[in-house]
Amino acid sequence: MTARVVVLLGPPGAGKGTQASRLSVELGLPHVSTGDLFRENLAQGTELGRRAKAFMDSGRLVPDELVLEMLFDRVARPDCAEGYLLDGFPRTLPQAQALEQRLEASGASIQVLDLAVPDAALVDRLTGRRTCSGCGNVHHVRYAPSRVAGRCDKCGGELKQRSDDTPEVVEKRLAVYRQQTQPLEGWYRSRGVLHDVDGDRAPAQVFESLKRAASEGAAT
Ligand code: AP5
Repeated sequence: MTARVVVLLGPPGAGKGTQASRLSVELGLPHVSTGDLFRENLAQGTELGRRAKAFMDSGRLVPDELVLEMLFDRVARPDCAEGYLLDGFPRTLPQAQALEQRLEASGASIQVLDLAVPDAALVDRLTGRRTCSGCGNVHHVRYAPSRVAGRCDKCGGELKQRSDDTPEVVEKRLAVYRQQTQPLEGWYRSRGVLHDVDGDRAPAQVFESLKRAASEGAAT
């Protein structure tokens, strides 16, 4: 069976994590987020987590070699044998090329779903995001408030602001996205695998469009 890889592309705050949790269930593919993998490493006190932290806290990208080793280790696990849903990877041309080589070698297919959201909305979403320190579930102070202030709806854990969600770091992350990641749109478009999705709508509407785009792409 040909493995299927689906990439959620889009700027910080576009809703990749929010949508990936549901889309992964819908498509039956494990959700693999490089940002989450780094944060897990950090929480476990690994050398990789320690090295990544300085880059993440300042809004810069973690160097490609660290990202690639960690990501390819993760997707070599048995749960990814039939495919996976990528969130936050690739983010640079060398990462996209490395992924392409790997998928060509195994004959896996790829679809790229590109979420577009205006900058002002991204800043608003990121600075208002609150993340559960227990299970990683994401809330927003206005758009997805928790039932009990400061507590996660899923597990009751403490909600915190991510250290890279301050206005200064958000500005840097958006600039890094425009410079290093956005060029991937053209790269994937020229390969005929990019699907544009308007991410500036209610989460349920965005989800329906992603589902549709994923099924259209799978049929071609
Ligand atoms: P990562 O964790 O991947 O962060 P990101 O890409 O910047 O994306 P975010 O998690 O901030 O946003 P999201 O699109 O998932 O939005 P969310 O659904 O949470 O990366 C962090 C750092 O790790 C990077 O800066 C880098 O240093 C490093 N890194 C990771 N991968 C790397 C790689 N491949 N190479 C190099 N370095 C790497 O939504 C945001 C908020 O908006 C939430 O509060 C949510 O409730 C709300 N929201 C979501 N959808 C909607 C909607 N439709 N309407 C209103 N609000 C909404």
